[in-house]
Amino acid sequence: MRLSSRVAGLRESATLKINAIVNRLKQEGKSIYNLTAGEPDSPPPEVAKQVVIDAVRKNLSRYTPTPGLPELREAVAAHTNRRQPSLSKPWSAQEVVVSNGGKQAIFNAVFSLIDAGDEVLFPAPFWLSYPEMVSAAGGTSVILQTSAAEGYRLSPETLESAITPRTRLFLINSPSNPTGALYTREELRELGKVLERHPDVWILSDEIYDRIEFEKGSWCSFLEANPGLKDRTVTVNGLSKSGSMTGWRIGWTVAPVELTRALIALQGHSTSGICSLSQYAAIAALSLPESDFEIQRLQYLHRRNLALEVLGKSEKIEVCVPRGAFYLFVDCKRALGQNQDANGFAERLLQDAQVAVVSGADFGAPTCIRLSFAVDEKTLVEACQRIVDYLDTLPG
Ligand SMILES: Cc1ncc(COP(=O)(O)O)c(C=O)c1O
Repeated sequence: MRLSSRVAGLRESATLKINAIVNRLKQEGKSIYNLTAGEPDSPPPEVAKQVVIDAVRKNLSRYTPTPGLPELREAVAAHTNRRQPSLSKPWSAQEVVVSNGGKQAIFNAVFSLIDAGDEVLFPAPFWLSYPEMVSAAGGTSVILQTSAAEGYRLSPETLESAITPRTRLFLINSPSNPTGALYTREELRELGKVLERHPDVWILSDEIYDRIEFEKGSWCSFLEANPGLKDRTVTVNGLSKSGSMTGWRIGWTVAPVELTRALIALQGHSTSGICSLSQYAAIAALSLPESDFEIQRLQYLHRRNLALEVLGKSEKIEVCVPRGAFYLFVDCKRALGQNQDANGFAERLLQDAQVAVVSGADFGAPTCIRLSFAVDEKTLVEACQRIVDYLDTLPG
């Protein structure tokens, strides 16, 4: 069969692949310690559930405007303005497009900005959908290496040296999936200074994990650190991760109005507006005070520390302490045999120790694995202990 060149090279997500194996093993009756989850294990906000029940009863189930209900666009603009108080002109509802999760929001932006041959820069390790979206749009991914020693954060020098006349877009994700790297306001400012010298480069800041920071007040929105870049920055956020609402598919872009018009046109001919019920729920969830999310933040912090304590018992791995999100990124280089990558390691860990993790290969880090700590404490501690015990059985 002849597929279009846009989709022919797309790869299946590593997370979906490992989950298929987990499901097969479960069907065979094996109990699996699953640390692959890319989603919170906590329920969505109570108020969001109630609003949806009421909306169903009131038959609020018709098409909505493509970029979202006006009240929701207002609520998103207000939410973003609270995170970016230094902007000289705040965002308005006209600059918001509500999409099917952060994923569609990023996809829309990449498709609206990238032409064949354009270069898109982003640091590695990266969220595995970035390169696939860029290649589907005909662009070229330029991957900027970072190291565990620098906390997997990109230096301004590396960014500067990678920019060419073909560079069209820079993607930044803080806190990061998969590393948990989080850039402080000062670090974002340093990157922003580089970008100020290159006026043709757009910035997409993926802030989907914004509430999950481990030092309170450490997270900063890219535009809050760099308000002068407002006319070429797209902020992506949503309720999937920090609102525990993954399946409700609520994400958005906040971007200058000319780009927003293109995003609306693209979405209007693909999916149209997102599920009406989710939009009512999103309005309710966005009205909650930040303090309502504190318990969840502290719970992730506690779990992170528990997992670090257990994994710290093995000298065969290097664990980078995450500053945000709910993942641990573990370098297994020392435990891997010659010419082995983490794909094989993750498969053997699953077969031999019944622990499921995601290989770092698709995140641009072939010797690493990603562990999610969005699971209950008992599972997390047992799984980490099994990893340590398994490492003990390996030579070296
Ligand atoms: C870094 C990052 N950005 C965006 C998304 C997309 O989130 P959503 O579920 O809202 O589409 C994810 C989801 O895993 C993510 O990890």
